[in-house]
Amino acid sequence: MNKKTIAVLTSGGDAPGMNAAIRAIVRSGIGADMKILGVKRGYNGLIKSDLIELNLRSVSDIIHRGGTVLYTARSPEFLMPSGIQKAKETCEKAGIDAVVVIGGDGSFRGARELSLTGVPCIGIPGTIDNDVGCSEYTIGFDTAMNTAMEMVDKLRDTAQSHDRCSVVEVMGRRCGQIALKTGISAGATAILVPEIPYDFNKDILERLISTQKMGKKHFIIVVAEGVGGIKDIAEKIFIKTGIQTRTTVLGHVQRGGSPTLMDRVVASEMGRHAIRLLEKNIKNRIIAMDCNKVVDYDIKEALKMKKPFDMELFKVALDISI
Ligand code: F6P
Repeated sequence: MNKKTIAVLTSGGDAPGMNAAIRAIVRSGIGADMKILGVKRGYNGLIKSDLIELNLRSVSDIIHRGGTVLYTARSPEFLMPSGIQKAKETCEKAGIDAVVVIGGDGSFRGARELSLTGVPCIGIPGTIDNDVGCSEYTIGFDTAMNTAMEMVDKLRDTAQSHDRCSVVEVMGRRCGQIALKTGISAGATAILVPEIPYDFNKDILERLISTQKMGKKHFIIVVAEGVGGIKDIAEKIFIKTGIQTRTTVLGHVQRGGSPTLMDRVVASEMGRHAIRLLEKNIKNRIIAMDCNKVVDYDIKEALKMKKPFDMELFKVALDISI
């Protein structure tokens, strides 16, 4: 019987731990007598047939590295029928039996389209935002939160020294998970997330004034990227309270760096799980985390799943930042 040929690609925003997932796929795939091809720059590499065979040593010395050795991209061409057709042709020519896509919901929608042309796909959730509907956890989230927490700790030192209010923007365009957890871990007085509309007077001003009356002299406000407007917020705080403010956008620093233990372990488990599915000829699944266990769902079902915002945790933040 011919060896199975499995292609792996990373797509969308890079996330720390993607390399650990690639390594797990290559090592467990070769262990299961498969041929593993790396696709460069996400779906663009499938369209352009930019493929490289990976061996056991190609993935040495990458488990601790941020970014992705396969490079990544957001591929507008792949969203068009002609792009998907070209990707399918690449798979046929290279004898690819299945594609493993490491990325977020957008990348999984691409995987679903590709699977409809007859190319089997498996998705592994990798994005710092932790916004994949079907999975409790996405590779990269823990590292990004820890990076953001360290950065906000540094901002706190200077805010404390000057009795200032530091207004910090963290990543998350549609999802406030980084803001919520970073905010709690850094003792923020207010946390603004895209999932919950905010009122400046009630959610910021009143909290600042009441905690100031209780003796607080410096303040941290964490704002998710999707809420934005940190300059306006900071200016309004100064005008209404006289508290000096400074703004910081943490930006892409949150996407880089060596993955935490959690991201390396989850990535390794999910990568191996993908190969186990393919060994059993199970296809078109999205791998996910449910109650700390690695599971998998049908790709169409997975894309319909929604992850509710953690209101309980949000209430914890409000109750203790007084
Ligand atoms: O990967 C997720 C993310 O980091 C979001 O939090 C952010 O909004 C977006 O990617 C930024 O994308 P880009 O790298 O294309 O600027």
